[in-house]
Amino acid sequence: MTNSVAVIVGSLRKDSLNLKLAQALEKLAAGKLVFDYVDIGDLPAYNDDLWVNPPASVLRMKEQVAKADGLLMLTPEYNRSYAGILKNAMDWGSRPYGQGVWQGKATAVAGTSPGSIGAAVGQARLRADLASLSTVLAPLPEVNLQWKPAAYDESGDVIDAGTRAFLQGYIDQFAAFIAKNA
Ligand SMILES: Cc1cc2nc3c(=O)[nH]c(=O)nc-3n(C[C@H](O)[C@H](O)[C@H](O)COP(=O)(O)O)c2cc1C
Repeated sequence: MTNSVAVIVGSLRKDSLNLKLAQALEKLAAGKLVFDYVDIGDLPAYNDDLWVNPPASVLRMKEQVAKADGLLMLTPEYNRSYAGILKNAMDWGSRPYGQGVWQGKATAVAGTSPGSIGAAVGQARLRADLASLSTVLAPLPEVNLQWKPAAYDESGDVIDAGTRAFLQGYIDQFAAFIAKNA
Protein backbone atom coordinates (compact mmCIF):
# COMPACT_ATOMS: atom_id res chain seq x y z
CA MET A 1 0.00 0.00 0.00
CA THR A 2 1.20 3.51 -0.85
CA ASN A 3 0.60 6.21 1.74
CA SER A 4 0.85 9.95 1.25
CA VAL A 5 3.23 12.28 3.05
CA ALA A 6 2.93 16.04 3.31
CA VAL A 7 6.50 17.31 2.97
CA ILE A 8 7.41 20.70 4.39
CA VAL A 9 10.88 22.07 3.73
CA GLY A 10 12.02 24.90 5.97
CA SER A 11 14.09 26.62 3.30
CA LEU A 12 12.81 28.72 0.42
CA ARG A 13 16.10 28.72 -1.49
CA LYS A 14 15.88 27.20 -4.93
CA ASP A 15 19.20 25.40 -4.32
CA SER A 16 18.24 24.36 -0.81
CA LEU A 17 20.19 21.38 0.50
CA ASN A 18 17.18 20.39 2.57
CA LEU A 19 15.02 20.36 -0.54
CA LYS A 20 17.64 18.16 -2.21
CA LEU A 21 17.56 15.84 0.78
CA ALA A 22 13.76 15.68 0.56
CA GLN A 23 13.96 14.82 -3.13
CA ALA A 24 16.57 12.12 -2.48
CA LEU A 25 14.31 10.62 0.19
CA GLU A 26 11.38 10.79 -2.22
CA LYS A 27 13.28 8.65 -4.71
CA LEU A 28 14.20 6.14 -2.01
CA ALA A 29 10.54 5.98 -0.94
CA ALA A 30 9.25 5.14 -4.43
CA GLY A 31 6.48 2.56 -4.32
CA LYS A 32 5.94 3.05 -0.59
CA LEU A 33 5.23 6.74 -0.10
CA VAL A 34 3.94 9.53 -2.32
CA PHE A 35 5.39 12.94 -1.41
CA ASP A 36 3.14 16.00 -1.59
CA TYR A 37 5.29 19.14 -1.20
CA VAL A 38 3.56 21.86 0.80
CA ASP A 39 4.50 25.42 -0.13
CA ILE A 40 4.83 27.58 2.97
CA GLY A 41 6.64 30.50 1.32
CA ASP A 42 3.37 32.27 0.60
CA LEU A 43 1.95 32.10 4.12
CA PRO A 44 1.60 35.52 5.73
CA ALA A 45 3.19 36.13 9.12
CA TYR A 46 0.74 34.73 11.67
CA ASN A 47 -2.02 37.17 12.51
CA ASP A 48 -5.09 36.02 14.40
CA ASP A 49 -7.16 38.80 12.79
CA LEU A 50 -6.79 37.18 9.35
CA TRP A 51 -9.12 34.30 10.30
CA VAL A 52 -12.06 36.61 9.49
CA ASN A 53 -11.16 36.06 5.84
CA PRO A 54 -8.53 33.30 5.89
CA PRO A 55 -5.74 33.56 3.31
CA ALA A 56 -6.05 30.97 0.53
CA SER A 57 -2.45 29.89 1.17
CA VAL A 58 -3.31 28.99 4.77
CA LEU A 59 -6.38 26.99 3.81
CA ARG A 60 -4.43 25.15 1.09
CA MET A 61 -1.59 24.31 3.48
CA LYS A 62 -4.00 23.02 6.12
CA GLU A 63 -5.88 20.91 3.60
CA GLN A 64 -2.68 19.35 2.22
CA VAL A 65 -1.53 18.40 5.71
CA ALA A 66 -4.96 17.23 6.86
CA LYS A 67 -5.43 14.80 4.00
CA ALA A 68 -1.91 13.28 4.18
CA ASP A 69 -1.25 10.03 6.01
CA GLY A 70 2.06 11.32 7.32
CA LEU A 71 4.16 14.45 7.70
CA LEU A 72 7.86 14.95 6.96
CA MET A 73 9.51 18.20 8.00
CA LEU A 74 13.02 19.07 6.92
CA THR A 75 14.79 21.99 8.48
CA PRO A 76 18.00 23.87 8.07
CA GLU A 77 19.61 24.97 11.29
CA TYR A 78 19.35 28.72 11.72
CA ASN A 79 21.28 30.09 14.68
CA ARG A 80 20.96 26.84 16.59
CA SER A 81 17.24 26.54 16.04
CA TYR A 82 14.91 25.53 13.24
CA ALA A 83 13.66 27.79 10.46
CA GLY A 84 11.17 30.48 11.46
CA ILE A 85 8.99 29.80 8.43
CA LEU A 86 8.29 26.35 9.87
CA LYS A 87 7.14 27.83 13.19
CA ASN A 88 4.89 30.22 11.28
CA ALA A 89 3.37 27.29 9.36
CA MET A 90 2.97 25.31 12.59
CA ASP A 91 1.12 28.22 14.20
CA TRP A 92 -1.23 28.64 11.23
CA GLY A 93 -1.90 24.90 11.15
CA SER A 94 -2.78 24.86 14.84
CA ARG A 95 -5.72 27.24 14.54
CA PRO A 96 -8.65 27.95 14.76
CA TYR A 97 -8.64 26.34 18.18
CA GLY A 98 -9.90 22.77 17.90
CA GLN A 99 -9.40 22.71 14.13
CA GLY A 100 -5.66 22.13 13.97
CA VAL A 101 -4.14 19.69 11.49
CA TRP A 102 -1.13 18.41 13.43
CA GLN A 103 -2.67 16.32 16.18
CA GLY A 104 -2.12 12.58 15.73
CA LYS A 105 -0.19 12.98 12.47
CA ALA A 106 2.55 10.38 11.96
CA THR A 107 5.58 12.64 11.73
CA ALA A 108 9.28 12.52 10.94
CA VAL A 109 11.96 15.19 11.02
CA ALA A 110 15.16 15.37 9.01
CA GLY A 111 17.71 18.01 8.22
CA THR A 112 21.04 18.75 6.72
CA SER A 113 23.67 21.44 6.89
CA PRO A 114 27.18 21.90 5.56
CA GLY A 115 28.23 21.97 9.23
CA SER A 116 29.46 18.86 11.01
CA ILE A 117 26.46 18.39 13.30
CA GLY A 118 24.02 18.38 10.37
CA ALA A 119 21.29 20.64 11.81
CA ALA A 120 21.05 18.46 14.93
CA VAL A 121 20.22 21.29 17.34
CA GLY A 122 17.60 22.82 15.06
CA GLN A 123 15.96 19.46 14.61
CA ALA A 124 15.91 18.77 18.33
CA ARG A 125 14.05 22.02 18.89
CA LEU A 126 11.67 21.25 16.06
CA ARG A 127 10.89 17.82 17.52
CA ALA A 128 10.10 19.41 20.88
CA ASP A 129 7.64 21.86 19.30
CA LEU A 130 6.06 19.16 17.13
CA ALA A 131 5.49 17.14 20.31
CA SER A 132 3.69 20.16 21.78
CA LEU A 133 1.38 20.10 18.78
CA SER A 134 0.55 16.44 19.56
CA THR A 135 2.01 15.02 16.38
CA VAL A 136 3.03 11.38 16.72
CA LEU A 137 6.79 11.39 16.22
CA ALA A 138 8.14 8.25 14.60
CA PRO A 139 10.90 6.49 16.57
CA LEU A 140 13.49 6.89 13.83
CA PRO A 141 17.23 7.32 13.71
CA GLU A 142 18.06 11.03 13.62
CA VAL A 143 19.02 12.33 10.18
CA ASN A 144 21.65 14.82 11.32
CA LEU A 145 23.23 14.81 7.93
CA GLN A 146 26.32 16.80 7.09
CA TRP A 147 25.83 17.66 3.43
CA LYS A 148 28.58 16.21 1.23
CA PRO A 149 27.97 17.01 -2.46
CA ALA A 150 30.00 13.99 -3.60
CA ALA A 151 27.41 11.66 -2.06
CA TYR A 152 24.87 12.59 -4.78
CA ASP A 153 24.91 12.39 -8.56
CA GLU A 154 23.68 15.09 -10.95
CA SER A 155 20.10 13.88 -10.81
CA GLY A 156 20.07 13.90 -7.01
CA ASP A 157 20.33 10.17 -6.44
CA VAL A 158 22.35 9.13 -3.41
CA ILE A 159 25.46 7.40 -4.72
CA ASP A 160 27.49 7.09 -1.53
CA ALA A 161 26.72 3.55 -0.34
CA GLY A 162 26.73 4.29 3.38
CA THR A 163 24.57 7.40 3.08
CA ARG A 164 22.17 5.58 0.78
CA ALA A 165 21.78 2.60 3.12
CA PHE A 166 21.19 4.93 6.07
CA LEU A 167 18.58 7.06 4.30
CA GLN A 168 16.90 3.97 2.83
CA GLY A 169 16.55 2.46 6.30
CA TYR A 170 15.17 5.74 7.63
CA ILE A 171 12.50 6.17 4.98
CA ASP A 172 11.55 2.48 5.04
CA GLN A 173 11.01 2.67 8.80
CA PHE A 174 8.95 5.83 8.38
CA ALA A 175 6.80 4.16 5.72
CA ALA A 176 6.21 1.21 8.05
CA PHE A 177 5.36 3.57 10.92
CA ILE A 178 2.82 5.45 8.80
CA ALA A 179 1.25 2.19 7.64
CA LYS A 180 0.82 1.21 11.28
CA ASN A 181 -0.39 4.59 12.57
CA ALA A 182 -2.16 6.35 9.69
C1 LIG B 1 20.42 32.83 9.23
C2 LIG B 1 21.28 31.59 9.13
C3 LIG B 1 21.70 30.97 10.29
C4 LIG B 1 22.46 29.79 10.21
N1 LIG B 1 22.79 29.14 11.36
C5 LIG B 1 23.37 27.90 11.29
C6 LIG B 1 23.55 27.10 12.46
O1 LIG B 1 23.22 27.48 13.56
N2 LIG B 1 24.08 25.86 12.31
C7 LIG B 1 24.44 25.36 11.07
O2 LIG B 1 24.91 24.22 10.98
N3 LIG B 1 24.30 26.11 9.95
C8 LIG B 1 23.77 27.35 10.03
N4 LIG B 1 23.55 28.09 8.89
C9 LIG B 1 24.02 27.56 7.60
C10 LIG B 1 22.95 26.69 6.98
O3 LIG B 1 23.01 25.40 7.55
C11 LIG B 1 23.18 26.60 5.47
O4 LIG B 1 23.03 27.89 4.90
C12 LIG B 1 22.23 25.61 4.82
O5 LIG B 1 22.65 25.40 3.49
C13 LIG B 1 20.79 26.13 4.86
O6 LIG B 1 19.92 25.13 4.41
P1 LIG B 1 19.35 25.11 2.92
O7 LIG B 1 20.53 24.78 2.02
O8 LIG B 1 18.32 24.02 2.90
O9 LIG B 1 18.80 26.47 2.60
C14 LIG B 1 22.82 29.27 8.94
C15 LIG B 1 22.40 29.94 7.79
C16 LIG B 1 21.64 31.09 7.87
C17 LIG B 1 21.16 31.75 6.59
